[in-house]
Amino acid sequence: MRVLLSDDDLGRWSPGHVGVLDSEGLALAYAHPRLPAGRSWVRANFISTLDGAAAGDDGRSGSINTSADRDVFGLLRALADVILVGAGTARVEGYRRASVRAPWLGLRQGLPEHPTMAVFSRSGDVPPGLSQARDDSGDVVLVTCQSAGAVAIDRARNVLGEGQVIIAGDTSVDLASAVDSLAGRGLPRMLCEGGPHLMRDLTASGRLDELCLTIAPTLVAGHRPRITAGAAVTADLTPRLLIESQGSLLGRWTTPQN
Ligand SMILES: NC(=O)c1ccc[n+]([C@@H]2O[C@H](COP(=O)([O-])OP(=O)(O)OC[C@H]3O[C@@H](n4cnc5c(N)ncnc54)[C@H](OP(=O)(O)O)[C@@H]3O)[C@@H](O)[C@H]2O)c1
Repeated sequence: MRVLLSDDDLGRWSPGHVGVLDSEGLALAYAHPRLPAGRSWVRANFISTLDGAAAGDDGRSGSINTSADRDVFGLLRALADVILVGAGTARVEGYRRASVRAPWLGLRQGLPEHPTMAVFSRSGDVPPGLSQARDDSGDVVLVTCQSAGAVAIDRARNVLGEGQVIIAGDTSVDLASAVDSLAGRGLPRMLCEGGPHLMRDLTASGRLDELCLTIAPTLVAGHRPRITAGAAVTADLTPRLLIESQGSLLGRWTTPQN
């Protein structure tokens, strides 16, 4: 991995790491900025092809990703307190509870062994892969809204546990209020893994701090989702880091409040 651009105001990045990045250098390159008490940091992570596709032929992102992207995906999970995911992505991608693995285990010192997964749903349906508790992975929280209805909300509480359902909003989850609720549970470093509809709502909420995007060196054409979907919203981001690895470009961009 080779650094093409770096802004050392962000995180604990050191110019001494310019050159070929090992695991330690990569972890520094993606470190969170120091957060004052009460401040959360919401980072999103996506992959896109050169022509903007966020999924391959099979409708999943796994078919467009690259080895460097998989490394950063695992690293960003290890750095997060909580992973935010839309129920659509959790179903299509067969999400399971999160587990941190080597070489990133050392990054969890002083933290729970694995990050929590927060799944966002209007319907209140917990995706099947997330309902089963496992010893080797983190907790799951459902973030839903009133319109899910009492039956679905009770079912989710039975499956996940009484305290594991957050209701934030009436007919849709209000992302700003969901972010505040998760931060209030001691989970300030948030990693949104999509999908495109959740990312759109997060952008519109003004609570997105950072986008980590891998650009895979591939063209795929076809009718594929982009990394955002839904009603128009505009946010202008600033590039902070750009890394090249075997043709993939991996970057960090921050939103104007940062
Ligand atoms: N390239 C990448 O990095 C990447 C990353 C993630 C996903 N993807 C791809 O994106 C596609 C899935 O797209 P998608 O837009 O359907 O994904 P999504 O945003 O994860 O799923 C949409 C669903 O999530 C829930 N949701 C989203 N925003 C919500 C809100 N504000 N309030 C309440 N619930 C909310 C709803 O679930 P309910 O239906 O339960 O109400 C909604 O139907 C797949 O092809 C996947 O592979 C690509």
